[in-house]
Amino acid sequence: MTERQTQKKRLLYGRRHGHRLRAGQQARLERLLPELAIALPGEEGAMDPKKLFPKPPDDIWFEIGFGAGEHLAQQAASHPATGFLGCEPFVNGIAALLRAIETEDLQNIRIFPDDARALLTALPPQSLGRVFILFPDPWPKKRHHKRRFVSTETLDALARVMKEGAELRLATDDAGYLRWMLFHLLGHAAFAWEAKGPGGWRERPADWPATRYEAKATREGRKIAYLRFRRRPGKGEKPAKRG
Ligand SMILES: C[S@@+](CC[C@H](N)C(=O)[O-])C[C@H]1O[C@@H](n2cnc3c(N)ncnc32)[C@H](O)[C@@H]1O
Repeated sequence: MTERQTQKKRLLYGRRHGHRLRAGQQARLERLLPELAIALPGEEGAMDPKKLFPKPPDDIWFEIGFGAGEHLAQQAASHPATGFLGCEPFVNGIAALLRAIETEDLQNIRIFPDDARALLTALPPQSLGRVFILFPDPWPKKRHHKRRFVSTETLDALARVMKEGAELRLATDDAGYLRWMLFHLLGHAAFAWEAKGPGGWRERPADWPATRYEAKATREGRKIAYLRFRRRPGKGEKPAKRG
């Protein structure tokens, strides 16, 4: 078993399938996903995310666990010169995003239908300008905390692949996960919190589209935290020299 396979076996806990896809969704999945799916390089290979797009984008932004893809699709529509990588192992969510890609003719999204950690490992140093981790599964029971996506290991991996000054955006509606996120991020040398004054992180920034998950959490009376961190300069691997 390769290192990547061991990692996948141990770390991916969410479900991959929900209700059965309708015939049209299934057909779209079979038609579009092979074209848009990101293939990982072999053990020794390297990947250049800009080469995933026919015209090299100005920057690459990455959404981890995009759910039904509402946020990703809206960001992609608002930033046509940016290339978007989206990770989501839940097939029904991928089907929902593919519908938006087709109906809105979005050319700038590529999909990794699996554990985001495998893609993080494959990306080159300092290749991402922005990363989104919105409402990651909170795993509230103490014995499940090790399943949480935010951890020292994933923050180390993000610090490696994010450019100096790149933004990391996180959201959660779970008070326990909020404390966990702050504990890990404030304790990590590569990230600086961009809180806009006391309580500013409780207001959704205008350029941060809401998802159905967020709307439900708000309806049910849960408070949302919108966290923005900056990748500090000089605390990680430098990008490989090209040419
Ligand atoms: C609570 S949902 C939130 C979805 C979406 N971000 C939103 O705001 O609507 C968390 C999502 O993270 C995905 N997920 C869990 N572990 C993941 C991993 N290791 N890599 C990528 N996605 C993951 C799940 O499949 C699920 O769709």
